[in-house]
Amino acid sequence: MPQIQAGEPSPNFFLDGNFSPVFEERDTDEMEVIGEIPDDLQGHFLRVGPNPVYVFSEAAYHTFDGDGMIHAIEFSEGKARYRNRFIRNEGFELEQARGDWVYKGMNSLMDPAPSRVPEGAPNSKNLANTAFAYHNNTLYALHEPSQPTVIDLPSLSTVGPTDFNGKLEHPFTAHPKIDKQSGEMMTYGYSFQAPFVRYSVIDKEGELVHTTPITIPRSIFMHDFAVTEKYTLFLDFPITLDIGRAISGGPAVDFEPQYGSRIGVMPRYGTDADVRWFDVETGVVIHTANAWDDGDEVVLLASRSNTADIAGAGTSEGNNLQENQGRLHEWRINLATGSVVERSVSETPCDFTRVNDDFACHKTRFVYAGIFNTERAFTFDGVMKYDGETGATVEFRYGPDRHGGEAVFAPKRGGTSEDDGYLVCFVHDEAAHQSECLIIDAQNLTAGPVATLIMPFRVPYGFHAGWVGTH
Ligand SMILES: [Fe+2]
Repeated sequence: MPQIQAGEPSPNFFLDGNFSPVFEERDTDEMEVIGEIPDDLQGHFLRVGPNPVYVFSEAAYHTFDGDGMIHAIEFSEGKARYRNRFIRNEGFELEQARGDWVYKGMNSLMDPAPSRVPEGAPNSKNLANTAFAYHNNTLYALHEPSQPTVIDLPSLSTVGPTDFNGKLEHPFTAHPKIDKQSGEMMTYGYSFQAPFVRYSVIDKEGELVHTTPITIPRSIFMHDFAVTEKYTLFLDFPITLDIGRAISGGPAVDFEPQYGSRIGVMPRYGTDADVRWFDVETGVVIHTANAWDDGDEVVLLASRSNTADIAGAGTSEGNNLQENQGRLHEWRINLATGSVVERSVSETPCDFTRVNDDFACHKTRFVYAGIFNTERAFTFDGVMKYDGETGATVEFRYGPDRHGGEAVFAPKRGGTSEDDGYLVCFVHDEAAHQSECLIIDAQNLTAGPVATLIMPFRVPYGFHAGWVGTH
């Protein structure tokens, strides 16, 4: 099929309404501002997501297949500038040059149509459409089957994928962890073939200094992990990947609860033999919030659900949102006694969990997360803040027909405490066909935004957000 019709209705949920892509690349400071942009908000708000141009099949398109596009707002001295850019890796450029699809997409890999991938070209697109990491003064756009893509700031132009001077030997998760106290970045990648997981540490100068395989019994969709000051945690939860199953007509990705769930704990520079596995209640974790050491215990906070509708990303028929929308959950793993105590800590269905990144891998009191709409999949109605000291969850809801994405925590310039900053997110008003950027005081969510930027262009729903401070 030729180019997607940007902004037109589609029978495919992930091409319809505000999931539909935009094609223009813009650069403007002409946003109407309601309220006042705080002048201690200094840096780049970044949001990446799938923005497909050419697709093999509109019906079979999966949201994980969309070409990456970054929408960014640079805040400085109370002013804002917006830019959006495609991420221009090789696969994207091949399709641009051809003016049609070259790559079929994950739901059409078994389609008998002849391949269009030219000899010597990568056999899949590095979409870089999922999330960001900012480490060693370098911005990476991430896509978990691929290498990280270096992006220039503030231009958002694509520098290209990196293999860390030939040392990166595995795919690179969309959710690496950066310990700002040590300056290290911890990462891993999973694959269909053994070793199913490999893990690496990148030092504060950007040098990859440690890699080890991690043995698990089968290939799984391991979207996130967690890191404390001393330990790295791997989540062996049973969303399985099976090419053989796909070839025989079954799902490539499936939830198989009979395999149970366990968490592996390994010293930061450990190897496979050092991993201690702890059985936990069977469930699904897509995103962790943070983890830290507490005496003999390792504490993990993540959004957890009982089951998953992975193939449909929540849109499949018969999908039970109540069962597969996550809620904040705490695990306390005692390394001295071997016991695990786990509990749900908030009733609010949520995902896109964030903390103040300055405290990642160390104890945090607060978690921020998108609040799920309980009627429509992949839809967020507001943002919440969980307080681990009081146990309370406070919420801000965007209002009727208004849905948002991930809200990122932006520390105030000169901020003094963990929650001294702002939550920044894009919201789309589906009734008014209007996209906005909200700036919310993280110490006063319920008051609503201190500033709302009315976007002159539509900003489609996307995946993760990021913040790069410039103070
Ligand atoms: Fe993610």
